Amino acid sequence: MCLQKASQMRSATLHRFLQKSEPGINFIYKLSIFYGEVFLIHEFDALVIGAGGAGLFAALEAGKNAKTAVFSKVHAIRSHTGAAQGGIGAALGNVEEDKPEWHAFDTVKGGDYLVDQAAAMILAEEAVQAVYDLENRGLPFNRTPEGLIDQRRFGGHTRNFGESAVRRACYAADRTGHMILQTLYQQCTKHDVTFYDEFQVVDVLMDGTTCGGIVAVELATGDIHVFTAKATLFATGGFGRMFKITSNAYANTGDGPAVLARRGVPLEDMEFFQFHPTGIQGMGILISEAVRGEGGILRNKTGERFMERYAPTLLDLAPRDMVSRAVISEIKQGNGIRGDKKIDDYVHLDATGIGRETLNNKLPEISSFCRTYLGIDPVDDKIPVQPTAHYAMGGIPTDVNGRVRRDGHGNFYNGLYAAGECACVSVHGANRLGTNSLVDLVVFGRRAGIHLADFIKHADRNNGKSDAAEEAKNKIAGLFKNKKQPSPRGVDLTDKMQRIMMEDIGVYRNGPDMERAVDALRELRKAYANVRVGDTNKAFNTDLLEILELENLLDLALITAESAKNRKESRGAHSREDYPDRNDAQWLKHTLACLENDSVHLSYMDVDTSLWEPKARKY
Ligand code: FUM
Repeated sequence: MCLQKASQMRSATLHRFLQKSEPGINFIYKLSIFYGEVFLIHEFDALVIGAGGAGLFAALEAGKNAKTAVFSKVHAIRSHTGAAQGGIGAALGNVEEDKPEWHAFDTVKGGDYLVDQAAAMILAEEAVQAVYDLENRGLPFNRTPEGLIDQRRFGGHTRNFGESAVRRACYAADRTGHMILQTLYQQCTKHDVTFYDEFQVVDVLMDGTTCGGIVAVELATGDIHVFTAKATLFATGGFGRMFKITSNAYANTGDGPAVLARRGVPLEDMEFFQFHPTGIQGMGILISEAVRGEGGILRNKTGERFMERYAPTLLDLAPRDMVSRAVISEIKQGNGIRGDKKIDDYVHLDATGIGRETLNNKLPEISSFCRTYLGIDPVDDKIPVQPTAHYAMGGIPTDVNGRVRRDGHGNFYNGLYAAGECACVSVHGANRLGTNSLVDLVVFGRRAGIHLADFIKHADRNNGKSDAAEEAKNKIAGLFKNKKQPSPRGVDLTDKMQRIMMEDIGVYRNGPDMERAVDALRELRKAYANVRVGDTNKAFNTDLLEILELENLLDLALITAESAKNRKESRGAHSREDYPDRNDAQWLKHTLACLENDSVHLSYMDVDTSLWEPKARKY
């Protein structure tokens, strides 16, 4: 009888699934006595949450041996990897001498020595093969006249351990990430990876230290599904949407790290959030570093090339943390160009010396953004820019094979993996170099996929002991109920959170501001308990989705602010006015932050400095 009722309740969904008749998928529609409710239950070997570069590469590898499903809350090829513009770093040495060792050193120094150095060496060495692998899979890289993959300059990339800038970024015009995404997606469809588009992950099935799958909401129907598997890999990308001005897509709400944090998984180095120096003023849309790589120059209100004062060797191509601080310093000193309000002050990115041909051929997207969003032509006009929240260096702590750490003592979860921006390997330390995000995706996405596929061969299925599906159902039902009147609106809480993070946990920070931010974020989390979903429809309920995303962002914002408040030094992207110096004696260590209800418990973990002694950074 129960089954009959179940099939009446969900007949539309069931019909749709059966119609799909996906080969090899063990689709079960049943009343699970364990979960005590009717849920749509699916069994796979491997689940990959997120369909950006890391998720797709992992799925390609895992899919060779294991029945693998990829989940995305958008369509796969709308993933945020597609927004990465300027290039993927690899020491091919096609246009100038280069070596993986120099790339690894730049990565460590760029990360202000918080990088795990053996991991950085893997990143740099495997980047070379990864780029050729992408080329062989069909990625249309720009070419030199000789037909080799062309390479251009990017911030912080140098020859011979900092001597001078080197051309290391391999690129497909200014659509490199977009091309990676297209290439990998084609390969996944060719290899019959199963995609669940527009599914939002809401919880994980954890049994102690073993992960047995996920709970997800199907956005088209509002149905809750349970997916069980021997291994689950999170590749959900970044969470820049916690800031007011960001280059991140609307979907970048940290769903993976937040869901795991609520189940006790620690998050690493969350205080390090990168601001890219050149977002379109007031909007945050990315203007690629490749513009400076091709000769663009930052200028203040007098037209001065101010980077000459901040980084005399690398100038406009110094690492991003330094350039962002330089921009903000210029603005604070009154050298910015006046926006409508003081907060809107900006500087100019002058691309007029690059020339029409290069702008059209090598930077077509950027040229089009300028025309579309600003009504200017970068051939003739300077581009108004300001730092924009761009990249999370921190995230789910993993080893170089994507296994998720339980603590700082070498213990790992079973069947739980992470890769890409949501993970922290850690190869970016306190500040990521431009182009290394795409390297991270392909190198560590691939490694995680390979390790996971091997793990599955020997692992038992373990998905029996979790109330997560039931809890998710109750939580979602609770969001529709009338609460305190008037209920706070999710959109207002989001706006407040984004302003707090922008103003108090931004490029420059200090103790009192961060203290205030932590208190305010706690209040917002309390207010969230009374938030209510206004739209009562089940199908494509974006109101519900945004409220679920807001919870994730609020949790990650609190963890970020607490981690930042406690680190009493300046390092990379964490720049404190009250502790302006790097302090290796006390703070050369990774933060591990555990969310425990309303508080964040902090502990610390050693940094691998096995290759290079930490030194002061000069560029
Ligand atoms: O500026 C850019 O093209 C961004 C690249 C990156 O974040 O690596």
